[in-house]
Amino acid sequence: MQVIRSLAQARALFDVFGQPIGFVPTMGALHEGHLELVRQARSECTTVAASIFVNPMQFAPGEDFERYPRDLDADCVKLTETGVDIVFVPSDDEIYPAGFSTAIDVGALASVYEGAIRPGHFRGVATIVAKLLNVVHPQVLYVGQKDAQQTAVLRKMVRDLEIPVHVEVVPTVRDSDGLALSSRNAYLNAAERAQAPSLYRTLLALRDALEAGMSKSAAIQRARSELGSLAVLDYLDVVDADTFEPLEAMRPPSFAIAAARFGATRLLDNVWMPHG
Ligand code: PAJ
Repeated sequence: MQVIRSLAQARALFDVFGQPIGFVPTMGALHEGHLELVRQARSECTTVAASIFVNPMQFAPGEDFERYPRDLDADCVKLTETGVDIVFVPSDDEIYPAGFSTAIDVGALASVYEGAIRPGHFRGVATIVAKLLNVVHPQVLYVGQKDAQQTAVLRKMVRDLEIPVHVEVVPTVRDSDGLALSSRNAYLNAAERAQAPSLYRTLLALRDALEAGMSKSAAIQRARSELGSLAVLDYLDVVDADTFEPLEAMRPPSFAIAAARFGATRLLDNVWMPHG
């Protein structure tokens, strides 16, 4: 696996690798969820590229940018073992040189739910992914269902701007107790970790109640009782899968989405509706 750090190196290299190129952008601290994206890329593409960049533009002041877990050596071992050909690890200055000022805003989709709680977050995500796509020139972009709203934002950006890439969405990888794998799970203490799978159980309970014909408000009320006592819920709702507009009744394709804080750690999760 080649590790490259500069934009110039990246441009030169990506032009000579065989196509299709599959690209997996990440912020590192890699787990089986990230590696599943890599495995799917490996099975579908001639060249597999990944990036590791903790993107300051998608963190607000006071968020966890500084303490976000970083372990480049362990990440490189995992990527090599999973068959990545090239990993791009740029510096902040390389991506955001002095005077950088452009941003991509996909509109209403980016200002609800996660976007309402983290204003500017999806501007940062869309801008970095657009920049990385312009450097790597992949044919396929691999993203995780785990971050459903981020995935919807990136699909919309690609569609609206005619970016010549296919977006492939990979199902959420979970621990054996149902907790969606996330780099931020490392922040949880033992008591929080024990209760964290209750977020997924809450979503399953919401889906079950709606499928049984309950009204949305009654279903949400019932589902909330699944949530562990340490959790503070930010939102629990049913939304259109593309626009993230709230739905009153189940209308496929939609997601049940939830975010909750366990101590200082925010966890997100979602399930497809209807079931299966
Ligand atoms: P990061 O959180 O590192 O996630 C990188 C990719 O892995 C995203 O597409 C995410 O949805 C996917 N992923 C994370 N956990 C997963 C799981 N349990 N199952 C399946 N896929 C999972 O998301 C980001 O980084 C950044 O916002 C980024 C897109 C790289 C832009 O900076």
